[in-house]
Order: sequence, then structure tokens, then C-alpha cells
Amino acid sequence: MAFRFLPLVLFIFILLPFNALAQTKSTVAVGDSLSAGNGYSTWLLSPSGDFSFGFHPLDINNNDLFLLSIWYAKIPDKTIVWYANGNKPAPKGSKVQLTSDRGFVLTSPNGTDLWKSQVIDVSGVALAALNDTGNLVLQDPKFKVVWETFKDPRDSLLPTQILEKGGKLFSRTFEANFSTGRYQIFLQQDGNLVFYSVNLPSGYANENYFESGTVVSNSSSAGHLLVFDPSGDLYVLKDDNERFSLSPSGKTPSNDISTGFYLRATLNFDGVFSLYKYPKNKNSSDQKQSWIPVWSQPENICTSSLASAGSGVCGYNSICDLNDAQRPICQCPQGYSLIDPNDAYGSCKPDFTQGCEEDRRLHDFQVLINTDWPLSDYVLQRPFTEEECKQSCLEDCFCSVAIFRLGDSCWKKKLPLSNGRVDANLNNSKAFIKVKKNN
Ligand SMILES: *[C@@H]1O[C@H](CO)[C@@H](O)[C@H](O)[C@H]1NC(C)=O
Ligand SMILES: *[C@@H]1O[C@H](CO)[C@@H](O)[C@H](O)[C@H]1NC(C)=O
Ligand SMILES: *[C@@H]1O[C@H](CO)[C@@H](O)[C@H](O)[C@H]1NC(C)=O
Ligand SMILES: *[C@@H]1O[C@H](CO)[C@@H](O)[C@H](O)[C@H]1NC(C)=O
Ligand SMILES: *[C@@H]1O[C@H](CO)[C@@H](O)[C@H](O)[C@H]1NC(C)=O
Ligand SMILES: *[C@@H]1O[C@H](CO)[C@@H](O)[C@H](O)[C@H]1NC(C)=O
Repeated sequence: MAFRFLPLVLFIFILLPFNALAQTKSTVAVGDSLSAGNGYSTWLLSPSGDFSFGFHPLDINNNDLFLLSIWYAKIPDKTIVWYANGNKPAPKGSKVQLTSDRGFVLTSPNGTDLWKSQVIDVSGVALAALNDTGNLVLQDPKFKVVWETFKDPRDSLLPTQILEKGGKLFSRTFEANFSTGRYQIFLQQDGNLVFYSVNLPSGYANENYFESGTVVSNSSSAGHLLVFDPSGDLYVLKDDNERFSLSPSGKTPSNDISTGFYLRATLNFDGVFSLYKYPKNKNSSDQKQSWIPVWSQPENICTSSLASAGSGVCGYNSICDLNDAQRPICQCPQGYSLIDPNDAYGSCKPDFTQGCEEDRRLHDFQVLINTDWPLSDYVLQRPFTEEECKQSCLEDCFCSVAIFRLGDSCWKKKLPLSNGRVDANLNNSKAFIKVKKNN
């Protein structure tokens, strides 16, 4: 009996490779299109099979919205390295088409344009190809490159990718929200590579919290490219061919990293720029692999950022501290709570009313060591004892926090507090935070 099924089995085996072949094209021609349907749909696969380009569900448990994106095809998490429409996720049924005059055009089911590649070339587009480096390239009929994702980056860089003067990286809003977020990395015209936060929605740029400092001086020349070397080194290349490596000393990846691992450098949603590695060949299938940070810049974003006209890394009245992975975590002081409970990085509000109408006898202090909000002072009293400092804040209806430091100095602060951080270099300073008395 069994052999009766043999032809069917053979049939399946013969069909499979063809099916696989149909899905694994690495170029598409003008006129081709792809629709967002159920789950992941790969349109282009790089020749090695490492990278996919197509529709990636924004939330795998809810196949309503899609990102036209490039991701690691062989990694179970399907980590995204580039996305077209972060600010306008595509509803199911949206379509991307390769056109000769506008390159890729992504349209929603009702016909509105969600995104298009900005092609500036009179000869038009002939084909699209996905390279093994993860670069998606549009070429004209003479194979000249007229647009490429490597020159239109989002939050990540890949080995062999180069950022030119004027080039930027943009963070996303949250890990799972790809709208443009608060942080940018910019290779300025003067050659300086700078990291800063912006105030949304206007985009006003706060002070840099990291700089390469690669500008012209008497003894040095300016930077002109940010280079991600295939070996894994990431550096600003200067006009005199000297390099400013972004990796903090001692953490330069060695060559074995570039062979055995995928590498990517990502501006995380919280402003930390990290180089990650992921083993290409997993040892056993049941072993859960993950992206491992090789280094991060800045080394402490809580203490290196100071926004004179913004909230800082965390929202107002919140406190920034580093976790073991060198990433910021934000916490409300006791007696305060998040305004938006779903935004752990957002602002905190006091759980009690403060102000000059309130009875000061109802108030007490919570004490935090080495915590400060550096820019919210309205008065400095010196010399003052610790007791005088507390008493003065208690009797002052403007005072929400008093910082006692250096043995004789008392800074009184008013709401909203900004740039809150834990900083071990504060030498056991005390923050007295006014809270409602427990009774
Ligand atoms: C079309 O769909 C987009 C994306 O879902 C939506 O933002 C837009 O409001 C819709 N436009 C019309 C005219 O219905
Ligand atoms: C992409 O790969 C093709 C084929 O190897 C190559 O000709 C082309 O130069 C590559 N393009 C870019 C921009 O890397
Ligand atoms: C992502 O964040 C933006 C900005 O906060 C918000 O407007 C948008 O609705 C969020 N998108 C999703 C899919 O949650
Ligand atoms: C650069 O050199 C000039 C002339 O020698 C000198 O006057 C100037 O102070 C130097 N600037 C710096 C930043 O060293
Ligand atoms: C796989 O396991 C071997 C032996 O335990 C180890 O030497 C090797 O580094 C592992 N490879 C990866 C990619 O983790
Ligand atoms: C902390 O104390 C050390 C040693 O006395 C001093 O060098 C440093 O400047 C102090 N830090 C601050 C922020 O005052």
C-alpha cells in the first residue's frame, strides 16, 4: 500500500525546491509588486540568505500593521535593520511596487502613499537588488546605483556601511514602536560626530551628550566619514587618514568577531549607541541566542547628558540610573508616579498637592543619596548646615527638593525637576524630597 503514496511524496519533494526558488529571488524588476498579507512576507532575499526585504508585522500577535523593512532572515527574532515606513505603518492589504520613475512606492489599501524612495535620476529605475551586506539597491538600466538603503539609514549601521558628512541616524520611539524617536546621531559638516536628543514635535536639538571632537585644530584634521569596517571597527575617518574609534578603549572587536558573528550598530530608543554581535552558527537548536552588546556609547548616558531646555534622558521629576547593560532606567521618586503608566521613560507627578496653600506641617522628606537634578535650582544657601537646609525647604512653599552637598551648601529646587540622575561622583550628597507625611 505504502508505495501508492510514493508519487505524491516525490511530487512534493520535486515541487519544494521550485517553491523555495520562487521565494528566494534577490532582484526584482520594474512593475513587480508585493502585498502585505499574513505574517512575514519576503520579497527579496540576499544571495547568501542572510537578509530579507519585505513586509514584517509590527506586532507578530496582531497582523494588522506592517513595516516594509530589511531583517536578518536566519535569526528567529527576525531583527529589523532598516524600515521604510516607521511613522506610517502599513495596514493589511497595502502594496509596494517598483516603478521606473519613483523607485519603490508603498500605498495603503485606500490608495494613499505611505512611503516612496527618493530617486533622483533621469534615466529611471530598472531593478532592485538586495546585497549580502544588507544593502537594498536601486539601479538604472546601465546598473548605476540611483538609491540605496545604506545612504538612507534609520537607527542601524551594518558592516561596510558608511555615513557621510550631513548623514544622520534616528532612534525609534520605543523598542516596538518605529516612529521617529527622540535621539539622533549626526556627522556635522565640521567633521564632528555628535549625539543629541531633540524635543518633539518641533525637533529642537538639545546639547550633545557625546562628541567625537574630530574638528580641525592646529594639531589635527577634521573627520569626514563614519566607517563601519567589515572587521567590526567603527570609527570616524579624518582627512589625514587618522581614525577616531567609537569603541571605548579595550573593547575593540577582534577579527574572529567579524567571521563568526553578525554585527550591527544601533542607536537604541533610549539614546545609547551600541555595537551588537550575534553568533551566525548556533551550536544547538534549543539554545536561545541573543544579540550581545560589545560596547556602548556613551558609557553613562545619565551623567553625560544635560539638556538645559528639555527633560533629560527621563521625563520631568524622574531619576535616571544605569542598569548592568549600560542602558538607562527611569524611576519616579517615592511619593511620585508616572503621568502615563505605559511610558516608563516619561514624566512623574507628585501624588499630593504642593504649593503655598498647603499646610507645611503635612510634609516630610524622603532622602536619596547621590541623586541630583542639576538645573532646577532657584536659590543656593551657603554656609548652611544640613538641618538648616531641611528646615528652610520645609518652611518654603516653593521648595520641592533641597540638595545638601559639600558639607555646607544647600540648593533649593522647584518643579518640574529635569535631568534627574544617580551619580556616584556626587560624594554622598543628600537629596531631600518633599513628600506627604505618613500618618
Ligand atoms: C487611508 O489609509 C491611511 C492609512 O491607514 C489613513 O491614514 C488615511 O486616513 C486613509 N485615507 C482616507 C482618505 O481614507
Ligand atoms: C551590490 O551587489 C552587486 C552584486 O554583487 C554589486 O555589483 C553592487 O556593487 C553592490 N552594490 C552596492 C551598493 O553595494
Ligand atoms: C508610536 O509612538 C507615536 C509617538 O508617541 C504614537 O503617535 C504612535 O501611535 C505609536 N505607534 C504605535 C503603533 O503604537
Ligand atoms: C594655533 O596656532 C596659532 C599660531 O601658532 C596659535 O596662535 C593658536 O593659539 C593655536 N590654537 C590652538 C587651539 O592651539
Ligand atoms: C560552539 O561550542 C563549542 C564547544 O563548546 C565552542 O568552542 C564554540 O565557540 C561554540 N560556537 C559558538 C558559535 O557559540
Ligand atoms: C568628590 O570628591 C573627590 C575627592 O575629594 C573630588 O575630586 C570630586 O571633585 C568630588 N566630586 C564632586 C562632584 O564634587
